[in-house]
Amino acid sequence: MRKIILALTISLLFFNCKTNSKKEKITGLITEKAMVVSAREEASKIGSDILKKGGNAYDAMVATQLALAVVYPVAGNIGGGGFMVYRTNNGKTGALDFREKAPLNASKDMYLDTEGNVIPGKSSFGIHSVGVPGTIAGLFEVHHKFGGLPFKDLIQPAIDMAREGFKVTNKQAIALNLTRKLFEKANNYKVLFDKEWKKGDLLKQEELAQTLERIRDNGQDGFYKGKTAQLFVDYVKELGGIISLKDLEKYRAIWRKPITFNYKNHKIISMNLPASGGICLAQILKSIAPFDLTKIAHNSSKYVQLLTEAERRSYADRAHYLGDIDFVNVQIDSLIAASYIKKRMNSFSWDKATKSSEVSHGAILGHESDQTTHYSIVDQFGNAVSVTTTLNTGYGSKVLVKGAGFFLNNEMDDFSAKPGVPNVYGLVGSKANAIAPEKRMLSSMTPTIVEKDGKLKMVLGTPGGSTIITSVLQNIINIVDYKMGMQESVNKARFHHQWLPDNIRMEPNGFDSTTKDNLKELGYELVERNSLIIGRVDAILMLPNGKLEGGADPRGDDKAVGF
Ligand code: GLY
Repeated sequence: MRKIILALTISLLFFNCKTNSKKEKITGLITEKAMVVSAREEASKIGSDILKKGGNAYDAMVATQLALAVVYPVAGNIGGGGFMVYRTNNGKTGALDFREKAPLNASKDMYLDTEGNVIPGKSSFGIHSVGVPGTIAGLFEVHHKFGGLPFKDLIQPAIDMAREGFKVTNKQAIALNLTRKLFEKANNYKVLFDKEWKKGDLLKQEELAQTLERIRDNGQDGFYKGKTAQLFVDYVKELGGIISLKDLEKYRAIWRKPITFNYKNHKIISMNLPASGGICLAQILKSIAPFDLTKIAHNSSKYVQLLTEAERRSYADRAHYLGDIDFVNVQIDSLIAASYIKKRMNSFSWDKATKSSEVSHGAILGHESDQTTHYSIVDQFGNAVSVTTTLNTGYGSKVLVKGAGFFLNNEMDDFSAKPGVPNVYGLVGSKANAIAPEKRMLSSMTPTIVEKDGKLKMVLGTPGGSTIITSVLQNIINIVDYKMGMQESVNKARFHHQWLPDNIRMEPNGFDSTTKDNLKELGYELVERNSLIIGRVDAILMLPNGKLEGGADPRGDDKAVGF
């Protein structure tokens, strides 16, 4: 994993040097009517072709997700889960939760040893880290409610690509090669991906093609029942895991009410629990709303300081209060109430850094490597979908279902294995996010849609584990406060603070030395060396002339395609 971090860091250094030297205005793909922006050109094109054939954004979502499961196996998935926020062309909004859940046989202390200590890696690697997948249930739910074209037409391009193969990119070859040992450790047979890859190699996945065909022919049951389910649980058993046929049969995606709030004349629509993104976004944006950012230079020390202090307070609340709303009582209204946010920011001072050790959760009344992936879609009818989906870390648990060809997530690590003990993202949790059978683990995913004057303005989201929330945040501010274009915004260097550990992660070479010196003087600890890329934002901005501008993150192989 350290090697992956190093490789990604090197590519980021290259990325920053390139963009910093460009003086001309950066503009993304501009289209007239419709667009799909995703982690891979092949997937964006498949989604866009569905739109061209008369499909809507929801049809394109199904086709893009399934294409990503083939062409972007590090995070695109059928063995994981995710969240979708939508806005119809008549302004109706909603959200779908297809997050993984804990198996029926899961228990609060399942990752602890006899002395009550967390067993390193058990929740994040191999068969024990797997949650019951939700992606296929999510896609059928969306298609059932909104779909226009037949499901078989939406899945066929993914089947064809799995069977005929696609060309591996350089970044993909590096990531696959660096994960070989982990593939070997997690599985009891030699998986397809376990070989030395190089750019341009053709990657064919026949077993995955057959699994997708069973889904095409049998619907949701093609995954949760029958041959696929049997292959799944047989392999789980071989490896000593606990997911059963009953777990698969019982899985349901759930429609949720999104979190909606206003920020400087814009309406933000984002994901609700079990994703923490919407609540944290609301808290942070409301904390900084009283400040006139036009008087504070973008990415200056004052800017980084203000956002950091708002982030610190919000992530402290996240750790204490947030969990699956179907299992714990979370006072969402209190947590995002203006009066509460004001009180939380009372201790903020421009003169020095607040210490995280001095910040706990507030008292309310009553009470992604980070390899997730995000795609944004706007169709020719004006519908918009914002989808973040994941296996959790790169290639999830690294377990590839024998005979079925898809990776299983390691999402169980998003639970709090023990209060106060950090997960792979350094996030700590409490009772609210403790493991229980059939409970959904708390997520940071933040698929988001922004409206202005009752009209669609922006669709955005990103992978990045705990940094998802703060990457979405910075892009909203870039557009709303700093009036950037979409690609310009996406390219900007990003930073992140999450209460604990008490430091600011900054993308290397993205911030000038004055900014960094000022922050250090105020008492902030900065982490640049070995920082991961912070997010890979894929977004669409509606331009004043009615056209669409895509923002495809150059930190990855991401691409906007449309017409
Ligand atoms: N697996 C990362 C998240 O859901 O936050």
